[in-house]
Amino acid sequence: MYLSSLLLCLSLGALVKCASGSDWCYTGCHDTPSHWGDISGSSCGEKRQSPIDIVTSRVAVDHNLHNFTFVNFTSQHVIKSIINNGHTVKCKLEENEVEVKGGGLNDTYSTIQFHFHWGDTEHHPGSEHKIDGHRYPMEMHIVSLKKGLSAQQAVEDSAGIAVLGFLINATEDADISEPWRILTSYLTNNTDTEVNINHAISIDELIGNVDRTKFYRYMGSLTTPNCSEAVVWTVFQEPINIHKNLTQLFPMKTGLTNIFRPTQDLNKRQVFASPATPLPSHPWCYDDHCENSPTHWHLLPHSHCDGHRQSPINIETKSVKVDEHLDAFTFTKFGDKHAIKTIVNTGHTVKCTLKEGSVEVSGGGLGYVYSTLQFHFHWGSTSHEGSEHTVDSHRYQMEMHIVNKRKDLNIDAALQTPNGLAVLGFFIEAMDMTKSGSGSGSGGSDHHETNPTSENDAWNKLIKYLSAIQNIRSEVKVTEEISIDDLLGDVNRADYYRYNGSLTTPSCNEAVVWTVFKESIKVDKNVMNMFPTKTAYHDVFRPAQPLHNRTIYSTTSGSRAPGPAILFLLLTCLCAFFL
Ligand SMILES: *[C@@H]1O[C@H](CO)[C@@H](O)[C@H](O)[C@H]1NC(C)=O
Ligand SMILES: *[C@@H]1O[C@H](CO)[C@@H](O)[C@H](O)[C@H]1NC(C)=O
Ligand SMILES: *[C@@H]1O[C@H](CO)[C@@H](O)[C@H](O)[C@H]1NC(C)=O
Ligand SMILES: *[C@@H]1O[C@H](CO)[C@@H](O)[C@H](O)[C@H]1NC(C)=O
Ligand SMILES: *[C@@H]1O[C@H](CO)[C@@H](O)[C@H](O)[C@H]1NC(C)=O
Ligand SMILES: *[C@@H]1O[C@H](CO)[C@@H](O)[C@H](O)[C@H]1NC(C)=O
Ligand SMILES: [Zn+2]
Ligand SMILES: [Zn+2]
Repeated sequence: MYLSSLLLCLSLGALVKCASGSDWCYTGCHDTPSHWGDISGSSCGEKRQSPIDIVTSRVAVDHNLHNFTFVNFTSQHVIKSIINNGHTVKCKLEENEVEVKGGGLNDTYSTIQFHFHWGDTEHHPGSEHKIDGHRYPMEMHIVSLKKGLSAQQAVEDSAGIAVLGFLINATEDADISEPWRILTSYLTNNTDTEVNINHAISIDELIGNVDRTKFYRYMGSLTTPNCSEAVVWTVFQEPINIHKNLTQLFPMKTGLTNIFRPTQDLNKRQVFASPATPLPSHPWCYDDHCENSPTHWHLLPHSHCDGHRQSPINIETKSVKVDEHLDAFTFTKFGDKHAIKTIVNTGHTVKCTLKEGSVEVSGGGLGYVYSTLQFHFHWGSTSHEGSEHTVDSHRYQMEMHIVNKRKDLNIDAALQTPNGLAVLGFFIEAMDMTKSGSGSGSGGSDHHETNPTSENDAWNKLIKYLSAIQNIRSEVKVTEEISIDDLLGDVNRADYYRYNGSLTTPSCNEAVVWTVFKESIKVDKNVMNMFPTKTAYHDVFRPAQPLHNRTIYSTTSGSRAPGPAILFLLLTCLCAFFL
């Protein structure tokens, strides 16, 4: 009993006159915060300290941070007493009646008290946590111990204590809230006299309409000596708005001012946010010219980029498994020469959007009908390759992605569904200019002209638009007659690899069934060079991601829809005939 109240005193700022010379303070004594580390037995100089400045651009979303369950927060009878203990004003709760669980906490926590931190009557703010460098006027801490643990056991457990931090904003807009008016009516400069609360007010009424699904989470410490590193911190994103006539009563009536600890070093700790927390949108990039290059994409808000089924990947042909269910695709309206609506320079790629509801893909072992939304490109530079997927570590010059969404889902649902999207990936390579046909082995004719087939026409038409979208975010209507079939040419669409993966750009949603075709589209080298040249950016591809335990499947080797030999002969004949 003595030990546990001593620990509460040392760690939770419960009493002023503690045993063992612990007269620490915020100002006006020897042991101010910069000396707390020297207090014998304290952890205040360690590396997992609180409070901190929460830098939202460094916060990572944690999808395990589900909603909290608050037990008896609505009860109007659990706030038992209030005391000015010389360090803060603290409200004690009825024992074993109030609980916190969920919110990504691994255990149920038993809530014992809440208390406050504030600045001074000159309107200097005094919250402990800061958000992006901003200190709020006040902060409320609701303290809970892991259920079943004594106070001593709790401070010895790295997650023994859960503190809910609510930032408090002083505003003139808010009405004077009755629960806060009642609470502040109990404020006094008379230390060490515990006063019973006789009014019916609940914790919920004090928290008000703060959205409790939006919060930050990190592992830290108590913010008063001994600064035990035992706290799972939750700092809610939205502040409680209280009229400033009430907030200023805290320093005025208690005589306590600037009772907050300065922010501590993060020391490589990661701060997480619940999925509902709005985080600023951050630019991402492929190289090092911005903060969020591919190795940092997982830190972006709502990011899945560190998941276990990420794309692109390197396809090791020797470990590919043949799957005879991978049959022929049905491409609907791929021949429509008016299906491409616009072409846009996104700053990361060149993207062609399609008219809604016309182009479709099915078959190919997909199991669903998918609507084709857009296609876009990945490239390196004029001197090196830039496909996203690699085959036996061979990188192709470019890669084209045709993005399709399951027809029965809307886009938001598709992004959350493991097979919500189907992307068709085609490698693009320079055609050999000394040969007339496209594809391999079309026979060494003695023509030395550029390829006259319609596919090349389509590429020439397409790249003419690149001059019109040189500025990032520019978008123009496509009026030329170009079909996807024209761009794909006679590339073999029956022989492909299949695996489960993700989008290759943030948020890297793991919603993609990938099809990577084995044969490459052959395009004039000069056409390919236009992508880096006109857009002025290069190397727009994500590095290969770990395969983890995924299997890559393949169509039966050598399959070719209409019978390879006949088509091949036919094409050769046609070419010979027309030239
Ligand atoms: C979490 O709470 C919010 C608002 O109270 C609600 O809209 C949402 O459905 C809840 N989520 C879960 C998973 O319970
Ligand atoms: C909630 O409070 C009531 C009394 O106010 C108590 O009877 C009940 O046990 C409490 N619930 C829990 C889960 O502790
Ligand atoms: C919950 O448990 C997991 C696994 O032991 C641990 O990694 C995580 O830090 C714990 N979270 C909290 C809030 O205690
Ligand atoms: C805090 O209060 C000020 C003054 O009323 C207001 O302008 C501001 O929007 C509030 N901040 C938040 C985050 O609610
Ligand atoms: C405490 O407050 C009372 C009235 O609010 C005031 O008269 C008194 O001087 C204060 N005492 C201290 C020590 O500040
Ligand atoms: C993709 O994942 C689904 C569900 O886990 C599984 O049934 C399917 O076989 C996987 N497909 C491939 C190509 O791995
Ligand atoms: Zn506190
Ligand atoms: Zn892509």
